Amino acid sequence: MPVQNIPLQSRLPKTYRILETKRETDMVQTFTFDGSLGALPGQFVMLWLPGVDEIPMSVAFDDGKHLRVTFFAVGDMTKELAKCKKGDLIGLRGPFGTHYTWKKKQHLMLVAGGYGAAPMYFAAHEALKDGCTLDIIVGARSKDHLLYIEELSALPRTTLHIATDDGSEGHAGYNVEVLAQFLTTHHSPSTIILACGPERMLLAVSDLAHAHAVPAQLSFERYMKCGYGLCGNCTVDPSGIRLCVEGPVLDNATVRSTTEFGQYHRDALGRKQSF
Ligand SMILES: Cc1cc2nc3c(=O)[nH]c(=O)nc-3n(C[C@H](O)[C@H](O)[C@H](O)COP(=O)(O)OP(=O)(O)OC[C@H]3O[C@@H](n4cnc5c(N)ncnc54)[C@H](O)[C@@H]3O)c2cc1C
Ligand code: FES
Repeated sequence: MPVQNIPLQSRLPKTYRILETKRETDMVQTFTFDGSLGALPGQFVMLWLPGVDEIPMSVAFDDGKHLRVTFFAVGDMTKELAKCKKGDLIGLRGPFGTHYTWKKKQHLMLVAGGYGAAPMYFAAHEALKDGCTLDIIVGARSKDHLLYIEELSALPRTTLHIATDDGSEGHAGYNVEVLAQFLTTHHSPSTIILACGPERMLLAVSDLAHAHAVPAQLSFERYMKCGYGLCGNCTVDPSGIRLCVEGPVLDNATVRSTTEFGQYHRDALGRKQSF
């Protein structure tokens, strides 16, 4: 994936005002900011709440005027972030990392789990400008946890597939089961897979793509502090590549050569934690 040059100005936080908040589910919100960072699908920003923390967040959308993020309120920082209102100021720096790529008029198979639905929507929106055709598989625990369904259903040249663990909507089971079925019956020689979601989902996508010899690009995420290659917290074994610079979007061969993929990750102090 193309590695970006990071200008000094992008490394320093600038404040942006929240223009709009949207509640997606009980734990998930989308914030739209009053500015753009010129981000591409798959890239991330470092989001700073003064006095609380600074965390990485995928760009859910950036149309050159406004940037959007979609987040789960899971811990100290994101629960504080969830209390923010329209008009509040938030620090953003970036955009950082690699982005998804495709060729004009290509067929893309997009696989999304969790907050991955947001960057997958951004990728879909941009790929349609290049005449691509899309199949998108979104998975969630249940119907009430599905994200971006309205936006994805409204896209042209797109077939949306839904999977829920409890069978409350679409396929009863995992989104990767839908992918497995699709790869056995439908894919064309031009198909590529783009995926963003939990690592156990990415592991299954990676195995399926490899077994069917379909090129894939996966968003491979680790604990990030600086976001631009300085601290080394996001390096992976054994290559030592920094996922904030050479990733997070990597081709499947690079992901599969990473021995810790699906096995363990490192926490804030660099200690190994098993999945
Ligand atoms: C490239 C990238 C893109 C991301 N995009 C999104 C997104 O679009 N939406 C979203 O909801 N979440 C996203 N995350 C995850 C998000 O950064 C964490 O959920 C968030 O940092 C949790 O912080 P907390 O203080 O609320 O919770 P904590 O209780 O501190 O952490 C909960 C869990 O979040 C993870 N986490 C915490 N801090 C970091 C960090 N600095 N870097 C990476 N992981 C961390 C750890 O796995 C931790 O166990 C992304 C992570 C990465 C690396
Ligand atoms: S987060 Fe610091 S090197 Fe990647």
